[in-house]
Amino acid sequence: MSQRRGSYRRPSGTEARRPSIDPSRLVSMDKTSAIPGSDDFNVVFIGAGNIMFGSDEGPWNHSFRLEHKLGPRLKVVAIVDPFVERATSVLQQKCDSFVVSAYKDTRVFKTFEEFVKNMSPRDRPRAVIIGSPPMFRGSIQPGRDIELQILKHIPGIAIFVEKPIATGEEIEISEAYEVGKRIADAKTVCSVGYMLRYLRAVQMMKKIIDDNQLTVMSTIARYACAYESIAKLDWWDKAKSFGPIIEQGTHFCDLSRYFGGEIEIDSVQAHSLEWDEPAGKLSKQAIDESKIPPERRIPRVTAATWKYDNGGVGSFTHLVALQGRNYSCEFEVFADGYSLKLVNPYVAPVLYIRKPGDDNETIMRFADDDPFFSEISNFIDTVEDIEEDSEAAQILSSYEDAVRTYEFTWAIRKAAEKSAAALKAAAALRHDI
Ligand SMILES: NC(=O)c1ccc[n+]([C@@H]2O[C@H](COP(=O)([O-])OP(=O)(O)OC[C@H]3O[C@@H](n4cnc5c(N)ncnc54)[C@H](O)[C@@H]3O)[C@@H](O)[C@H]2O)c1
Repeated sequence: MSQRRGSYRRPSGTEARRPSIDPSRLVSMDKTSAIPGSDDFNVVFIGAGNIMFGSDEGPWNHSFRLEHKLGPRLKVVAIVDPFVERATSVLQQKCDSFVVSAYKDTRVFKTFEEFVKNMSPRDRPRAVIIGSPPMFRGSIQPGRDIELQILKHIPGIAIFVEKPIATGEEIEISEAYEVGKRIADAKTVCSVGYMLRYLRAVQMMKKIIDDNQLTVMSTIARYACAYESIAKLDWWDKAKSFGPIIEQGTHFCDLSRYFGGEIEIDSVQAHSLEWDEPAGKLSKQAIDESKIPPERRIPRVTAATWKYDNGGVGSFTHLVALQGRNYSCEFEVFADGYSLKLVNPYVAPVLYIRKPGDDNETIMRFADDDPFFSEISNFIDTVEDIEEDSEAAQILSSYEDAVRTYEFTWAIRKAAEKSAAALKAAAALRHDI
């Protein structure tokens, strides 16, 4: 594994400072107005699903944020989705609303190839937003290489791509690194949708660390999803979504890397509570899990530990345990004299800060924060390159960096499977004796 990423890895201790944004620059949508200008800003959407057009499952909805960011300049020239009825239906809803000017000339295509064949110079996008399922991207194989297709057919166009950057067999991680290298070599503006990095609370944590020149000693992360609200069968199927760490826990694995630095991949250890163990029974699934072959059902708990390359230690527990709608998530960073604890980042972020000289925690609340808007806003500002101040717009998650997070999540999944298999084998042996 380490060999594969060798050429991308910085030597220990020379890790560049991870990009950050002054938290005061992260403002919610209602406190900003669309960026000025009169020229059209053409966009292509790949995928017409929940992340692009919203759903009851959460606050994500890229089209909505783009409409606000670009105002009347937004022109969605195409929506690419093999599920044409879905694309046509969301398009109709947009055309029936006050944002019609962005969608009145939008065309729907089944494939990106079809779009390219029919693209007139007027349709040339300035950005492509990719929200197709990860199994169709992040590789160099035909049909799963949308990034490379964009680089080939419309070079120079900025790309925003959702997390995880791919899902595929572990052996394909090297292909994701290759995609990252080609994006970087082409100097393409590319942002990956790890939106928690854009939370004001997260940037406040960064600021405290930077201002005080702290070295992170440990990260402790806990992510408990509300499984009752997860109604997609594929999510529960390891062969489709590749498990809850790769699909969902990836957000906290990424935050861990954002604060802790690079992971010693070979140090990753993990245990899981599997669906067929006594403690793994769930009573309120919205899906019929019997439709998924037993060996493909997901673990209910995954708990991992690892070393960072500066010697620090990280840990993460992901739980498929809560019911209802709201997730319960906490992320803690420790440094000499300091603890920074982020609570409830998805719903109402709160930061508990303990500093030297005071055993009490200071509490900061971050109401009305919208990291989905902030990531889109910073992406568009980077594409427009309008700010004279180079610090103003920042992409906080590059493609190559996001591949490292992907590799890390795979390492956790493998470590958990390895320990589960070892424990099963030991139990079978005891039984035989
Ligand atoms: N950052 C977040 O918090 C967040 C939230 C939701 C989803 N996501 C990510 O967004 C991605 C999409 O998730 P979703 O919930 O929108 O899924 P979805 O299933 O609701 O939508 C995906 C859409 O892509 C279409 N599609 C399938 N193959 C395609 C292809 N080859 N080209 C173009 N379109 C194709 C499907 O027909 C579907 O309409 C996933 O990677 C997911 O992890 C991120």
